[in-house]
Amino acid sequence: MSKQKISALLGAADLSVEQIRYVLAVARAFSGPVGRGETIPLLQGKTIVNLFFENSTRTRISFELATRKLGGGTLNFASSSSSVQKGETLIDTAKNIEAMKPHCIVVRHASAGSPVTLSRSVSVPVINAGDGFHEHPTQALLDAYTMEERIGDLRGKRVVILGDIAHSRVARSNIHVLRKLGASVAVCAPPTLLPPEPETQGVDFAYRPEELLKTADVVMALRIQLERQNKMQIPSLAEYARVYGLSCERAKLLKPGAIILHPGPVNRGVELDPEVADGPRSVILDQVGNGVLIRMAVLAAVCNASGLESWLNQGGHRV
Ligand code: CP
Repeated sequence: MSKQKISALLGAADLSVEQIRYVLAVARAFSGPVGRGETIPLLQGKTIVNLFFENSTRTRISFELATRKLGGGTLNFASSSSSVQKGETLIDTAKNIEAMKPHCIVVRHASAGSPVTLSRSVSVPVINAGDGFHEHPTQALLDAYTMEERIGDLRGKRVVILGDIAHSRVARSNIHVLRKLGASVAVCAPPTLLPPEPETQGVDFAYRPEELLKTADVVMALRIQLERQNKMQIPSLAEYARVYGLSCERAKLLKPGAIILHPGPVNRGVELDPEVADGPRSVILDQVGNGVLIRMAVLAAVCNASGLESWLNQGGHRV
């Protein structure tokens, strides 16, 4: 595993194949010690600020856990109880936090591009934890890690992303990561929930899921992002579920060995039947667990690249 410089993580579009493979390999190296309950003290003496302007369960908690498992300290910022409510801007908020000398800012914001804007205004590294409909790079990395764990090398594998592609930062980041890892990607949604000209992103597309499902090694179902739609772009959630939901019947079309992912939160009975979400093909909770390893890998690479390299060169033993 050769060292790959990752000075920030603003989007999966910016990651090279080598950087993606490096993060996945570091996460794999961490899995043994983390599974044994060990701390890997690569962030000792460092403070990571989780600057979340949007709700989160999985991402915020896993960044916090990842920091702790690396021996670092976290500060959690919730916009609802901050001076943002008095009119303070994102940049002013970040500059004030920077003045308190943290070592990294993890940001989630409803505005696409806000992590890039932030990174130009502060001198500490910025990690994107989801920006509007733009990108969610650590989600795509943990998704790729989970897929490889279950079905091996993704080269030549077929991944079908089913749901609200147009408004999904998860879909966008996954398309970048999966294509760089050599997977063949197809997206499926009603026309109103597909981006314009999906083929220009290097993906196949269809308006109906059945034929794609028969070819899939992986199906990723996505939530309908009502919070990012100007107006309801489907007749109703019930109608969406009837045509696009991964029901028990539709799941029978899948090949033996095909797996089902969902980034969460799941709307049971809309994008997935409960029996499918909890069934043997589902790796949804594996994704959540692997999110800690991936965020550890990204934080260590961004905040202590030389310490990480020493740890890896010593065979992954505690530094
Ligand atoms: N997958 C994901 O981003 O979940 P949260 O919104 O709970 O962080």
